[in-house]
Amino acid sequence: MKGIILAGGKGTRLYPMTKAVSKQLLPIYDKPLVYYPLSILLLAGIKEILLISTPEDTPIYEKLLGDGSYIGVRITYKVQDTPRGLADAFILGEEFIGKDSVCLILGDNVFYGQDLSKTLWSAMKKVDESGGACIFGYPVKNAREFGVVEFNKEHKVVSIEEKPEKPKSHYAVPGLYFYDNQVIEIAKNVKPSARGEIEITAVNNAYLEAGALHVQLLGRGVAWLDTGSPEGMLKAAEFVEAVQSRQGFYVSCIEEIAWRRGFITTEQLQVIGTELKMTAYGQYLLELTGGSANV
Ligand code: G1P
Repeated sequence: MKGIILAGGKGTRLYPMTKAVSKQLLPIYDKPLVYYPLSILLLAGIKEILLISTPEDTPIYEKLLGDGSYIGVRITYKVQDTPRGLADAFILGEEFIGKDSVCLILGDNVFYGQDLSKTLWSAMKKVDESGGACIFGYPVKNAREFGVVEFNKEHKVVSIEEKPEKPKSHYAVPGLYFYDNQVIEIAKNVKPSARGEIEITAVNNAYLEAGALHVQLLGRGVAWLDTGSPEGMLKAAEFVEAVQSRQGFYVSCIEEIAWRRGFITTEQLQVIGTELKMTAYGQYLLELTGGSANV
């Protein structure tokens, strides 16, 4: 399975913070926002990654992440000239995806939780073995701001609505999606919505109509944090700080995950840690190489 991180958009909802800097490059506590979705792809074991961003921001992502070899993966880049909607990721990524299945994660989505790896693996397995799509439902108080899952009386999913005035449930669809290879053709056939975008929700509804959409509900054990507002970003940063300072384990540390997944050796991790040794982040990496408990 391939992985796509969509880190485009103008970030107008966060102006002036994002007037000159891509939203997904802004920090959440001690690391750029894009590290969080990248860490999800690494946790899933995905090693071929395409990052899509704007013409101005793509070179900055390249400076940040390079070709990915330092964390043992392959990262390539694609420029999106104008924001045409999330489903455009599969059209821009057609060549990259090739004949594979694909996981799309939005560059501003932060997830954290016990057993998240298991959830990711089971979604991948479902799609790779049986085809179709696997998305998630997550209970939120402000469902109107997201794609929302509608269930019937038998708890079966009957539709997904994009930012509905009157949400039919409080289950939002997070920006993490697993699809079989048909997603490319489906995306090409999606008609632009009222706001002129080819919506990911339309792709999900196409899978639903074909009887090939699996919606897995996420419970309390998983944190899906909102980064759509200054308050959301502050709260996400506080969450990360609280977990890290209490437990001593870093949240979404891409170098650590790459090492635990066996993508890089202890020696390679040591080199990265040494380069960053003037920071707490670098010290953490160096401590890991000294043999910390495997969790
Ligand atoms: C997008 C999707 C929406 C989804 C959300 C998750 O919305 O259109 O369906 O629930 O991401 O972050 P955006 O917030 O990018 O407008």
